[in-house]
Order: sequence, then C-alpha cells, then structure tokens
Amino acid sequence: MSGMMDVRSTTATGPTSAPPPKAAPAQVGQSLLRVDDLRVWFPITEGLIFERHIGDVRAVDGIDFEIRRGETLGLVGESGCGKSTTGRAIVRLYKPTTGSITFDGVDLAPLEGAALRRMRARMQMIFQDPYASLNPRMNVAGIVGEPLDIHSVGTKAERNERVRDLLATVGLNPDFAVRYPHEFSGGQRQRIGVARALALNPDLIVADEPISALDVSIQAQIINLLQRLQGEFGLTYLFIAHDLSVVRHISDRIAVMYLGRIVEVAPSRELNREPVHPYTVALLSAIPIPDPVVESRRRRIILKGDVPSPAAPPPGCRFHTRCWLRDRLGDPERCSTEEPVLRTMATGHDVACHFAEEVAGSAEQVQAVGRGAPTAPPAGSVSPSLGPDGTPRRDLGALPATPPVPPSAPPSVPSPGV
Ligand SMILES: Nc1ncnc2c1ncn2[C@@H]1O[C@H](COP(=O)(O)OP(=O)(O)OP(=O)(O)O)[C@@H](O)[C@H]1O
Ligand code: SF4
Ligand SMILES: [Mg+2]
Repeated sequence: MSGMMDVRSTTATGPTSAPPPKAAPAQVGQSLLRVDDLRVWFPITEGLIFERHIGDVRAVDGIDFEIRRGETLGLVGESGCGKSTTGRAIVRLYKPTTGSITFDGVDLAPLEGAALRRMRARMQMIFQDPYASLNPRMNVAGIVGEPLDIHSVGTKAERNERVRDLLATVGLNPDFAVRYPHEFSGGQRQRIGVARALALNPDLIVADEPISALDVSIQAQIINLLQRLQGEFGLTYLFIAHDLSVVRHISDRIAVMYLGRIVEVAPSRELNREPVHPYTVALLSAIPIPDPVVESRRRRIILKGDVPSPAAPPPGCRFHTRCWLRDRLGDPERCSTEEPVLRTMATGHDVACHFAEEVAGSAEQVQAVGRGAPTAPPAGSVSPSLGPDGTPRRDLGALPATPPVPPSAPPSVPSPGV
C-alpha cells in the first residue's frame, strides 16, 4: 500500500495530501468495540392513514460483547436471529433502540451528523451479495473511490492513485478501474467490495456473510484475502455467518446468537471442542467430520419446531421451545419462566443456560464435536439423541446443517461508513 494518503487525518471538512499511512501494529488485547445491552427493535404498525404501533420485531434484544483490537469475532446463528441487524447497528446503519456501542472509547449510539460520519469512516462493512451491493451504474473507480470523495480525501489525482493501489492490494489489476461491475465474476466483485471497505483505512470491518453468495472454489480465496489484509493492516473483524463451519476457521472467538440474544461466547477452539449451550451443540452436530469412522457414529441433533417469531419471543429461555437438554432434564420450570443471563463458567465460556453444566461430557456434546464414541446418558435420564441402549434415535427434530443462504443483502442499504 505504498504511496497512499493518510485518510484518517482527514474529515469532510477539507482535502489533504498527507503522507502515506503505515499499517498500525495491532494492539491485540485492547478493547476496540464494546456493545452493552444493545437492542434494535423494528416497530410493527397497523392502519394506512392513522398508523398504530401494535408491536415490535425484537431483532436484537439485549446483547453484550466486546471485540479486541486485531481479533476476529465470529457471529453465528440461524437465519433471522439478528446477526445482520447487530452488524448494521454497530456501523450505525441502524440506530439502536437502547444500549450503547462504544468504539475506541466513544459511545456511538447518540452520535449524529459530522461526529458520526467521522467515526463511521473507521468502521466499514462488506456485504453478502457482491452483485446487489455494487452500484451497476458506477465504474470501479467510482465505487472504490466514493468514500474518498465523500470525505474529500486528497486531490482527484491522489484519489485515483489510491484506487489503483487498493485494487492491487485486493489482487485486481489496477487497470480494471474503468470497468463496470457486470464485467466481473462474483469473487472479483467481492474483491471490489473489500477494496471499497479499505479505502478509508478503517479499524473495524463488519463482514456480513462475505462468502455465502460465492462459489465454494472462490470462498477460500476471499477468506485468504481477508486474513492477509488483517495481518497487513491490523484490521479487526466482526465476521458474520450462518455457517459455523466457515466461522470457526477464521475466528479467534465466536459468539452464537439465537432469537436476538447471545447464548454462548468462547474462543473458537474451545467452542468447537467443548460447546456448553445446547444450541451450540446442535449447530456443531450438523457439521460433518471428515473421518468416516467417527462420522458414522455421529448423530445430528435435530431441533424440533421452527424458530419462534422475534415479535413474540418465548418467555424464560428463548430456546426452551426447541431445547433437547430441557427435554432430557424433564422440563424444569426455570427454563420457561426465568431468562438465563450470560454468565462465565469455570471453563471460561460465557453461556446463557441455567443447566449448561449438564452439557459438559454429555453424549450429545461428545458426538457433536466428534470426540469419539458416545458415552451412555446418565442413569434415569432420556437422551434425545441416543436410545436406551446407546444407539442413535431417529425421531429428533431438525436444525438445518447449513440453513439456506438468504437471497441477498438488501440492495437499498446505504453505503456504510461514508
Ligand atoms: N428493516 C427491518 N424491518 C423489520 N424487520 C426487520 C428489518 N430488518 C430485519 N428485520 C427482522 O429482524 C429479524 C432479524 O433479522 P436479521 O436480518 O438481523 O437476521 P440475520 O440473522 O442476519 O438473518 P440471515 O441469516 O437470514 O441474514 C428478522 O426477523 C427480520 O425479519
Ligand atoms: S435454560 Fe433450559 S431451555 Fe434454555 S438452553 Fe438451558 S436447558 Fe435449554
Ligand atoms: Mg443477515
């Protein structure tokens, strides 16, 4: 990235042609982003002329987490659990209903106008659908250079040079700057999206399903690109995906979401070795293990029923209507009356389940992680995944292994961070 302008020293107030930036060494460990009790509710209204507020879609309903500088936090969960809404609230495409988002010590929630624009420049978003997220009427120079134009960074010639530099950085020929999005493949388009996200030298990138719409053969290239850029520029990522098998390879830590809440957070390795929330166990049980012997002994935990509506989440634990552990424990009352808070277990996992200790060492956990032969369930208990003789049952409910990829990110989303 030699020869680039220091875009961070500029604001919308005027151009500059400061010296090139150096990739700041990532001070891994320091908190870059803190989210406290974040809620994003979408109002449901009725009536055409006199609109009446009749309820809310509680897309995100009281979540807390932290992202440290230089790390990748994976955010996973089924379709509709609130992942994108979380990402968009962080870069302030959505205004939080309540709660705070502290970025580098500044609470973003109340910010407006120029102060918000300045902070937004430091947080960028990469969208899922590289077809819908690039303006088909702009050429690549216009798309990648738009954030620089909006923030009046450098002179026209410097901005053009910066665009060429960015294209080279993401592995595209700088001469492609004059071409239009329809002239590129999906993977190339996503590279253009990445170049645009890098234009203002952000600290944080929210990547919302950045590879879900790409061919499998291209997915690894984009993951490798993101990892290289993280090392090169000290980037911090919030990596959103519905597929735990994707997230676990690139995340330092993983947060699992269910119906607007975070149910488990742990370092990626720990989460994959010893998941302690029944929902995480179910997600992991759906990922095939590349060992035919182990795989033949595994049982996927199939969750019963559908995900409840976020407009009317179940009382108590939101997962109780589908929880295999609750069934196994004989339907304890607490599950349906008392909402579990996110607590830190002795193992270091943060988990929101009253009975997470029961998961450790269970047949379901052992099978889900493919650690070996399943152990028999505790005496007197009924395992939903194993019959009384330890053989797999065939009557469990369903969790899609890889829930269907939603068609696209909404094309109407405004350009973030500019
Ligand atoms: N602008 C909006 N207005 C009303 N409801 C919304 C809006 N955006 C999202 N929702 C609802 O909020 C909930 C969470 O949506 P969100 O897009 O955050 O989920 P997601 O986890 O990203 O799902 P997916 O994996 O399908 O992308 C869903 O029920 C969705 O229908
Ligand atoms: S609190 Fe109860 S319903 Fe919720 S995850 Fe734990 S066992 Fe299941
Ligand atoms: Mg989404």
